[in-house]
Amino acid sequence: YRNLRVALLGAGSVGAQVASLLLEHGPELATRAGAGLELVGIAVRDLDAPRTADLPRELFTTDAESLILGADIVIELMGGIEPARTLILQALGSGADVITGNKALLATHGPELFEMAEQVGAQLYYEAAVAGAIPIIRPLRDSLAGDRIKRILGIVNGTTNFILDRMDTAGESLEQALATATDLGYAEKSDPSADIEGFDAAQKTAILASLAFHTTVPLDLVYREGITGVTLAEVEAAKRAGYVVKLLAICERLTDADGVEGVSARVYPALVPRSHPLAAVHGAKNAVFIEAEAAGDLMFYGAGAGGVETASAVLGDLVSAARRHVIGGPGVAESTHANLPILPISHVTTRY
Ligand code: NDP
Ligand code: HSE
Repeated sequence: YRNLRVALLGAGSVGAQVASLLLEHGPELATRAGAGLELVGIAVRDLDAPRTADLPRELFTTDAESLILGADIVIELMGGIEPARTLILQALGSGADVITGNKALLATHGPELFEMAEQVGAQLYYEAAVAGAIPIIRPLRDSLAGDRIKRILGIVNGTTNFILDRMDTAGESLEQALATATDLGYAEKSDPSADIEGFDAAQKTAILASLAFHTTVPLDLVYREGITGVTLAEVEAAKRAGYVVKLLAICERLTDADGVEGVSARVYPALVPRSHPLAAVHGAKNAVFIEAEAAGDLMFYGAGAGGVETASAVLGDLVSAARRHVIGGPGVAESTHANLPILPISHVTTRY
């Protein structure tokens, strides 16, 4: 039974929950992964900062560079461009697989990271980078790899969806709704512009469009408009006309007037008909609606943010990475090691 060394960079909202769940459920995840998952350390900036989980103090270090030496799998949850970029390149360069939720880094330096991974035969996993807990990267990359995507319409930023929803359902102004979002911890207290100006959604759009159309969509080619110009009067007029205003991430295969086929990636507040499934996405939830040539319409819905929710996506990547170490290949092995009993119908307490 092989033991894999796992190094964690960051113990903030997401990282602390990843560490906590890994320590709590490690043996169970190990049976699914086919390998032991040993958390060898957690790199942070401030050893004395408060954490959202009770984690063993001896695991903490401020020396991220030393921590990744000898790790089989590195989980990067620091955020930002540097030092995350350099540390990921170093980890991949040493042959470790890397898991990240860092959409800002992927949207700006993705090709460099993927190239390094390919050169050394390592893997870069990033299920948490778009729409938090919602499985969307693997469905696009693997399950739909045999189809042709026509269009993706996504609500990929929880803060702006929360604000627009409050304007629509509670008649709040944008300023009032933003204050509520900030109080509830959805929007960044110091600088909510990444959310409300659409930068966060644009990063996720670049990642989705690149995956959906098997190309590289640079962040600076994603058209972006935030929600700061949306007024309550406009939201109410849209409502009277049968629409709801949503900040949409749109990735589309288009053919121009000269017959040239290309990709359009754009983010802006759009009028969504109330009959469309995306109109029913309330609060800070996310949803990604995919229109595929053969599969037809598919929708993925759930928590787009949150520490423990996003940790679910990260740990899924961890099991995949571990399986790859054990069996080789892309890390999509089936597992039936849990031996859970199949319960009879008399144990079922709800009808759905
Ligand atoms: P936080 O800001 O809450 O946590 C960042 C962590 O990284 C902190 O523990 C911090 O240390 C550590 N850190 C930052 N810089 C350094 C450094 N130079 N050296 C060592 N440690 C460092 O971030 P989140 O957990 O919210 O997000 C992590 C990543 O996940 C980001 O890329 C984010 O975009 C992504 N993500 C987040 C989601 C969410 O809901 N929060 C959802 C989906 C993706 P210290 O605590 O000591 O300051
Ligand atoms: N600020 C982001 C949001 C967090 O509101 O959706 C998750 O990426």
